[in-house]
Amino acid sequence: MKIFLDSADELQIKFWSGQGVLDGVTTNPLVLLRDGVTDPERVLTELARLTAPGVFHAEVTHASGPFLVSEARALSSIGDNVAVKVPVLTPEGESCLAEISELSRAGVVVNTTACLTLGQVVLAAKAGARYLSVLVGRVDDEGGDGAQVLAKAREWLDRWGYEAELIAASLRGTADVMRAIDAGAHCVTVPPAVLAKLVDHKFSRHTVREFLEAAETTNAA
Ligand code: G3P
Repeated sequence: MKIFLDSADELQIKFWSGQGVLDGVTTNPLVLLRDGVTDPERVLTELARLTAPGVFHAEVTHASGPFLVSEARALSSIGDNVAVKVPVLTPEGESCLAEISELSRAGVVVNTTACLTLGQVVLAAKAGARYLSVLVGRVDDEGGDGAQVLAKAREWLDRWGYEAELIAASLRGTADVMRAIDAGAHCVTVPPAVLAKLVDHKFSRHTVREFLEAAETTNAA
């Protein structure tokens, strides 16, 4: 299973890369805004370099059509390790599957994002997307079961022999990450604060303190 960091914060990317646990980094316009990015072109290029050899995911900002396709090609060219995130549809509900298919056939690594249903995942896989991002937290927000969408999608991909990888996104807490793992996500993308919580446990701290105190007593004897 792959772990991506959902962040555009250079310090966090460097820190978690240094921990040896990252397979890549995901971003989107919301993440760039939250992390205070004001010069996306320069920052995305720098973050792609920093993430290599891991996969760096950057999202298009055009809703559909030829502008989306040319932006996706430009993003793809900022590094050999770039996957381009393309939403499955526009805010008006028009399909972006034609763009996803065209880009995938042209060799662009596409991550179809904003998927909330099994149907969207199935169609994005059929259109040739390499990654399929299910926004688990947003499914849950609407009273759905994001983990169940992941589990059904994983079962479908395996049954029909698709190589596309499912990314569990919009994970807001450690329990969300555990559910995504359990549901069979190939990848989880995790915000830095949630990754920090995954490594922590107050009784682990207590246990380590006991070890160190015991060692101190033994060494002093
Ligand atoms: O990667 C998707 C993420 O940025 C959206 O998260 O918590 O706003 O649904 P959230």
